[in-house]
Amino acid sequence: MRPVTIDDFEAVARERLSPMAYDYYRSGADEEHTLHRNREAWTEYALHYRVLVDVSAPSTATRVLGTDLATPILIAPTAYHKLAHPDGERATTRAAAAAGTLYVASTLATTSLEHVAAAAPGAPKWFQLYVHKDREFTLRLIARAKAAGYGAVVVTCDTPVLGRRCADVRNGFALPDGLLMENLVEVIPLDLQGDDGSELARYVASRHDAAFSWSDLRDLADACAPLPLVVKGIARGDDARRALDHGARAIWVSNHGGRQLDLAPSTADALVEVVDAVGRAGAGGDAGTEVYVDGGIRSGTHALVALGLGATAVFVGRPILWGLAEGGEAGVKRVLELLNAELVRAMQLAGCPDLASARDDLVRRHRRATR
Ligand code: GLV
Repeated sequence: MRPVTIDDFEAVARERLSPMAYDYYRSGADEEHTLHRNREAWTEYALHYRVLVDVSAPSTATRVLGTDLATPILIAPTAYHKLAHPDGERATTRAAAAAGTLYVASTLATTSLEHVAAAAPGAPKWFQLYVHKDREFTLRLIARAKAAGYGAVVVTCDTPVLGRRCADVRNGFALPDGLLMENLVEVIPLDLQGDDGSELARYVASRHDAAFSWSDLRDLADACAPLPLVVKGIARGDDARRALDHGARAIWVSNHGGRQLDLAPSTADALVEVVDAVGRAGAGGDAGTEVYVDGGIRSGTHALVALGLGATAVFVGRPILWGLAEGGEAGVKRVLELLNAELVRAMQLAGCPDLASARDDLVRRHRRATR
């Protein structure tokens, strides 16, 4: 049967992936409350649609950090795309380019950032950074991203240590032979062997800088210049303001897909708090602070809620991996087409010819009837 929802893509992906790979992508931290909370939270809002609006030519065009995109649905950084399909990150970046969207390459990619860039020359792309204890190495990653033509650096701030994903611990998660964290090969001759849970958790524990803090953020922004620095992993209004005060150009509301701190708030709720704290950007991000969000967005209708709540753009992670597992580059294209078709239809039904109109009092908290 043809997949017609992201859940359908996930079902196909589950059949194609090894149990270890599927569990790695699917899991959240601990009891997975935040993983589920993220997804449910989008449904706790209602779309107060308008009628008799000309929606015959809907436009999803948007702009993030000065780059024009055909859609506000962008691709979040996720690790290890070659676990999902042998074409890995090259397939993902090509599908992103074909869809007119932006791909954020992960530090933990199984394809080097240079090869990702070369797979879709000229396509908009950002580089996601983990700050390593080895600051020289961290600076080299930034220099490589600049040289390869990336348009922004996204620093992930919610991972001083890796959250505990129980399935990975049970499975003893490790990259299969032949797959490498290609951006990190120069620091990899480290012993990741062990029998205490996931290999990735051991990597993070030994290499990530858990001391990285506000006093370092300005230096990081300076090192990234002239590229803008996006701060990812924000869940509170005061942290968003602080990030801007320390050199961030944009805020990315995220709890790492529910994979880090369990019982963290949903990203929908965090988005409302952050937008309140930093103010709303105009349509297409042409004024004010750009705020992005990821976490639990499984349909174009969820995306419309996020945009209505003030997000400049939304990012999807797992849905892309399900598409990649389903059919490589073509599978990622199908997922992006599905999400965008859902967004367009929801906009038309809501009386929104463009994204600016979606920001105009469309979304309100849904009050459940009480008896
Ligand atoms: C990597 O960033 C992960 O969440 O596994």
